[in-house]
Amino acid sequence: MDLSVSFGNVTLKNPLVVASADISLNFNFFRMLVDSGVGAIVTKSVSDITQLQSASITRFRILREADEGFTMLSRGGPMLTMTKWQNHLAECLPYAHKHNTKIIGSVCCSSLKNWVEYSKIVDQSGVDMLELNLGNPHGGAADKPAGYLLGQSLDASAEVVYEVSKVVTKPVIVKLTPQVDDLVPFARAMISSGASALNVMHRYQGFRVDIEKAEPILGGWAGVGGPWMKTISLAWTSKIFNQNIGPIFGGNGVYSWQDIVEFLMSGATAVQFASVLMVHGPEQIRGMLDGLEKYLKENNYQNIKEIIGIAAKKAFTYKELNKIKEVRYINNPAVCDKCPTNFKCLDYCYFEAIKREEEQVRFLDTCNGCGLCNEVCKVPGAISQRIKD
Ligand SMILES: Cc1cc2nc3c(=O)[nH]c(=O)nc-3n(C[C@H](O)[C@H](O)[C@H](O)COP(=O)(O)O)c2cc1C
Repeated sequence: MDLSVSFGNVTLKNPLVVASADISLNFNFFRMLVDSGVGAIVTKSVSDITQLQSASITRFRILREADEGFTMLSRGGPMLTMTKWQNHLAECLPYAHKHNTKIIGSVCCSSLKNWVEYSKIVDQSGVDMLELNLGNPHGGAADKPAGYLLGQSLDASAEVVYEVSKVVTKPVIVKLTPQVDDLVPFARAMISSGASALNVMHRYQGFRVDIEKAEPILGGWAGVGGPWMKTISLAWTSKIFNQNIGPIFGGNGVYSWQDIVEFLMSGATAVQFASVLMVHGPEQIRGMLDGLEKYLKENNYQNIKEIIGIAAKKAFTYKELNKIKEVRYINNPAVCDKCPTNFKCLDYCYFEAIKREEEQVRFLDTCNGCGLCNEVCKVPGAISQRIKD
């Protein structure tokens, strides 16, 4: 099946993109990523921020959460000096291009002059696209506002994008920080300043405590992400898609092929991920590609483009919520009269639409269809939904 997606004149063989992170720093890992079949790899950011170039600040902590979720707390490093980045690229680019994996060069600077200079060099180094990292959660490491601190200023980040776009020849992606009130005006400003696509979105800054030592894990604030972040990333992806602002790389919270489908259906043309590879290994990519392809075939989609944004387009705005079909829940007395949970559902109906009469529960037609009873009841065949007449 054709899984290819295009951003202007750059076509990725599939929408899976390894996000900028330490996983691609070493050529052996880089080769594994290419061999896994990914459509593109975003290189680790090249930067003028000396503090972020130091390898010794790197710290990772995987905090295991319930349901196989995790929180990835990390201070990724080291960002690359231009010389290191160029050496890294010289080693990796030919291998990637030989296997039709596109390379996206990521830039993260602190002065406008360097944004322009570094981007020019990256542009002329043979990469397929550039990504401007305007969301790095460690932005405070620079003397001038950088990373999310720069990305939070609409005027300052638009100026960077405008000045860079004027001097480069390759399409520019802007990686947005989520640490603003509303990403939509930022997305719009970046596209109107010359960006060709958006990366929705970078990570938040987080803080966790080791309660045995009474001190912060990793020594202070760090980038934070994990599968739980997906819900927020999808909200912004779908909102930006519905405003028809520009093509989107979705990301932050991708953990499985199902997550990739969710991002595509929310409006992303391609999907970036990093933590899942650091936690579960680069071999995840093959399973993600297979899962995506199988899903498309089983659901009779002819190509990937058919699903981009289909769920976002169906989303009701808050003003349209009255269009949602009215439903109610009913119960099956044959199952419920022998309830093994001692009528747990009763404790969850805040609308008094479930009544207990001796050893029986009855669902009343005052049910407003919230569905919480069905969520907490694990007894097969006990509760079902009906469209309200
Ligand atoms: C260890 C680590 C290092 C990272 N380094 C960079 C970086 O240099 N530049 C950048 O733009 N993003 C960087 N990121 C952010 C990722 O590119 C990605 O946006 C983020 O991890 C969210 O995606 P995920 O949930 O798939 O991990 C880094 C993330 C991690 C975990």
